[in-house]
Amino acid sequence: MPDPTTASPREPLGAALSTPARKAAYVRSLFHDIAPRYDDITVWLSYGRDQQWKDTLVRMACVQPGEHALDLACGTGDLAMRLRDAGASVTGIDLTHRMLTLAAGKPGAGAIRWVCGDMLALPMPSACADVVTAGYGLRNVPDVAQSLAEVRRALRPGGRFLSLDFTLPRSVVVRTMYLAYLRLVGGAVGHWLHGDADTYRYIPESLERYPGAAGVATLMRETGFVDVRWWPVLGGLMAINTGRVPR
Ligand SMILES: C[S@@+](CC[C@H](N)C(=O)[O-])C[C@H]1O[C@@H](n2cnc3c(N)ncnc32)[C@H](O)[C@@H]1O
Repeated sequence: MPDPTTASPREPLGAALSTPARKAAYVRSLFHDIAPRYDDITVWLSYGRDQQWKDTLVRMACVQPGEHALDLACGTGDLAMRLRDAGASVTGIDLTHRMLTLAAGKPGAGAIRWVCGDMLALPMPSACADVVTAGYGLRNVPDVAQSLAEVRRALRPGGRFLSLDFTLPRSVVVRTMYLAYLRLVGGAVGHWLHGDADTYRYIPESLERYPGAAGVATLMRETGFVDVRWWPVLGGLMAINTGRVPR
């Protein structure tokens, strides 16, 4: 898989999210650029709560020692490290070389296998994993249903899937205010750190096009997952989706 270091400058956000191929190219270039600041930005934008949400997700995964866990869109490795600490043998998969390099450079990261790969076509054999996780991963793929089909393929019978991501509140008023807030803050932070307001405006724009926790739950059922549920986090602005493959 090519390293996007030489990717051309990104096109405007609206156009970039208009087709799956353009979104894939945009996302690849975006995460390459923000990788060195990703950990700090995640703490700031979540008001320091992101680490707790990741702890919760891994507790919910009920990892048993020796299980194989895949962490998709692993970024700088937060969930992968927690899964390892819970006793799993872990493979972290991400599209962005730079994210993987940062993850692999962290203390204790040597025990984890880091793989450059696409959630839409996992470079893993079928039925290889007991647990699959994704932190802020599904919202970034151009085809959520395709990604869920890949997760199901990679899981053994009885295997669990857990995904943490933004979601949109049900209330139209709250939703509109939330998106406006994310555009304002994201634009300011992007302009300040990268000289490009679109960098973090990508969050509300991608969120608006994402099926959200309820939509992901529906897609999971359609893909053949059972025990499908989702838990609101941060008053329903974020959510954890869960489900498992039938035995
Ligand atoms: C917001 S970061 C999340 C990182 C980490 N999971 C976390 O929770 O902090 C999103 C990650 O998704 C990766 N990504 C985006 N599209 C992907 C795809 N199609 N396949 C694999 N990784 C992808 C990006 O490279 C980036 O590292």
